Amino acid sequence: MNLAGNPLKRTQKLDTGRVRRFILPDRKIRVTQITTFCPDIIGPGPTHLYLIENDALVLLDTGIPTKLAKRFFYDSRNQIIPPEIEALPEDYSKQELLEGLHLAGHSIKDVDLLVITHGHPDHFLMGRWIVEQANCPVTAHALDTSDICNPWGMLEMWFNLRQRTMAMGMPQPKGVSDSNHFYMEDVNPESIGFSLKVDFPIMQEGLLTLNHSSLKGIEVKHLPGHSPGSVGLIVGQEGSEKVLLCGDVLLSPITPHPDDLLTYLRTLEKLKNLQDIVLALPAHGKVIRNVKARVDFLQKYHRQRLKITYKTCRKPCSAWDIATLPDYFDIAVDPSKFNPLAGNEALMHMEVLQMVQGLKRVSINKGVHLFQNQGEPFEEVYNRILDLVKDQRINPIMRY
Ligand SMILES: [Fe+2]
Ligand SMILES: [Fe+2]
Repeated sequence: MNLAGNPLKRTQKLDTGRVRRFILPDRKIRVTQITTFCPDIIGPGPTHLYLIENDALVLLDTGIPTKLAKRFFYDSRNQIIPPEIEALPEDYSKQELLEGLHLAGHSIKDVDLLVITHGHPDHFLMGRWIVEQANCPVTAHALDTSDICNPWGMLEMWFNLRQRTMAMGMPQPKGVSDSNHFYMEDVNPESIGFSLKVDFPIMQEGLLTLNHSSLKGIEVKHLPGHSPGSVGLIVGQEGSEKVLLCGDVLLSPITPHPDDLLTYLRTLEKLKNLQDIVLALPAHGKVIRNVKARVDFLQKYHRQRLKITYKTCRKPCSAWDIATLPDYFDIAVDPSKFNPLAGNEALMHMEVLQMVQGLKRVSINKGVHLFQNQGEPFEEVYNRILDLVKDQRINPIMRY
């Protein structure tokens, strides 16, 4: 058994390119982690893909094409691309994947099934190319198929982001004005058609299936909150210790950004109750060797975020006022620069506080929504949030 992760190739520049093999306790299933380029600081850092060798060869996630990563993370936020990243070949991530497969003893054509953990660009945008090479089916949770399958999903996301981020009070990215006119320079809709056809939408938890047959030792868990259709795979045979491949649901040292904090807090509770998980292998950052401790940390982290958000709103605040507080977000936020992840982090905490009447929307000033607390002790508000997390019947009906 080798759960330490036997290196087949060490990291190269930019902390990417590593290939590591994990052999599960029953020795029947091998999991190979292949690390592909995705920028750090401005993005979540290199994306780990996982090759699961069992009765079938399953690839989990695809990474993002290097050309698109440069554009998506830097251009859109009006930031200069560092020279070492600008210099990367456009097919850098593809080459990393091909080399990882080779070191694991396979070619891309051997892949039997592509599973997408969730519909974020760093997880599926290289999928179309992989499917062309492997001619394999694709599966992902039904709730994220609108992001993965829609050829205009990226454009739709930009339009939606514009309205939401303006309401948060965030400065807008390059190519967006305050008027109703919207454009992005150089956008050729044909060139961003990176959508991926999902052949088998996941509708419920249970064993992963390929061509309608169950794959023993690979169980799908629905773990929403980072995205509606986030899934994790529990890999390992019945009665044996298992590994959780968790996508972006658990990360270390960065924290996953919830797109629905209430749902995410429920998922953390669910993760606490999973049995026999000895290791979590996430899509970015470090291997998580103590899953319960990481879940515990994340619960405390969100409690602290809720407290800071609540207390700062003793005077009317926008989501951007909160997101730009020193040390609020994982990384430093420049208040003058578009940063939808930072804004969303604050907004999700404000939403939950609003659901328990801890915060109220007191005005909308020039399109920016302002929220203020009601002067109660934070602990009373937080106890109501804990009750909300427990009561699965309650879901938001009016967002933002
Ligand atoms: Fe994600
Ligand atoms: Fe990610």
